Amino acid sequence: MKVAAIKKYGDASVFTITELPMPHCNANQVLLKIDAASINPLDWKIRKGMLRFVMYPKFPAVLGYDVSGEVVAVGENVKNFKKGDFVYAWSNHPGGEGYAQYIALDDNYVVKAPQNLNAYQAACVPLAGETALQVIRDIGQVSADSEVMIIGASGGVGLFAVQLAKYYGAKVTGVAGTKSADLVKEDGADKIIDYTKANLFADKKQYDLIFDAVGKHTFREVESFLKPDGIYVSTIPSLSNLMSFMITRFTSKKCVVMVAKNHPADLQFLTELIEKGKLKPTIDSIYKLEDIAFAHKRSEAEHVHGKIIINPQFLDTVDEASEESFPASDSPAWCLPRKKVM
Ligand SMILES: NC(=O)c1ccc[n+]([C@@H]2O[C@H](COP(=O)([O-])OP(=O)(O)OC[C@H]3O[C@@H](n4cnc5c(N)ncnc54)[C@H](OP(=O)(O)O)[C@@H]3O)[C@@H](O)[C@H]2O)c1
Repeated sequence: MKVAAIKKYGDASVFTITELPMPHCNANQVLLKIDAASINPLDWKIRKGMLRFVMYPKFPAVLGYDVSGEVVAVGENVKNFKKGDFVYAWSNHPGGEGYAQYIALDDNYVVKAPQNLNAYQAACVPLAGETALQVIRDIGQVSADSEVMIIGASGGVGLFAVQLAKYYGAKVTGVAGTKSADLVKEDGADKIIDYTKANLFADKKQYDLIFDAVGKHTFREVESFLKPDGIYVSTIPSLSNLMSFMITRFTSKKCVVMVAKNHPADLQFLTELIEKGKLKPTIDSIYKLEDIAFAHKRSEAEHVHGKIIINPQFLDTVDEASEESFPASDSPAWCLPRKKVM
């Protein structure tokens, strides 16, 4: 099978498209034909070696945690899935192994994908959606009384966070750049602040939860804009925030540096919300596996709106995709060639 592998840490040029043997599916696993994988910033952080002391995939490594596609084989103990099921997962393999055409996954990490999504949309959900859910529902305990600010509201995590905060009834202020303001508004934010033009806290408003999904600020900068028992949550473990986390264990305002957990029950919960029409993924763009280096560079620039998707199956043209189940072929989401490549 075709994979995008890296043999060492480095910039996006370290990717090579290569062949590996098909994964073997053991008694408790399902074999999945990957129709879509999504890029998380975690992937390029691993690729660059930024996390080498905490996460160490063996080289040659295949990255990519979020996958969706079709079950093509099941192990003898697997009862919940059968061939042909449309599923998705946050892979529990070191490094992910999702930038590939096939993956064998333990069945307890696999969830039936929402029936109202196509494979590209489904691959947007696992890691970013679970991260947003764990912040909004579990850490922030957002409710109808909550005032929430989401910084990085147009990113993979941020767009899910905006929708989830609205789902729990909060008043939501989304912080995004000029080009992505409409997207954040569409997903339900009550107010948008353009971080390129305005001071986030010019109105001196205080929040129950400030979720810094892109880790661009610190607890110390935002502390006075939290209500007396407000929480600041960052996805990035900066030294300043780690120190604030320790200190605020003893104060009413809290700083939390979150680490998302791979909880398939959370993905199941998100599936239900999606099927009820309460939550939807946003695709930034779709690339072929061969264009993985370019797609990684785009993610690394930190101006992605929604999720970047990788299609690891052979697909010459947009026209070869089933038009009704994929984004409209004139959608800007497509980065595949419109004409067949000979
Ligand atoms: N700790 C964890 O467990 C965990 C889990 C998931 C993610 N993360 C981390 O969280 C971060 C965000 O993840 P993601 O998937 O959402 O990333 P992403 O999709 O790449 O987010 C990019 C978004 O950030 C926005 N942005 C960039 N600079 C900004 C600023 N100064 N203020 C406000 N928005 C800004 C961009 O909007 P514009 O284009 O409009 O500028 C863009 O929409 C990543 O660093 C990731 O590694 C950590």
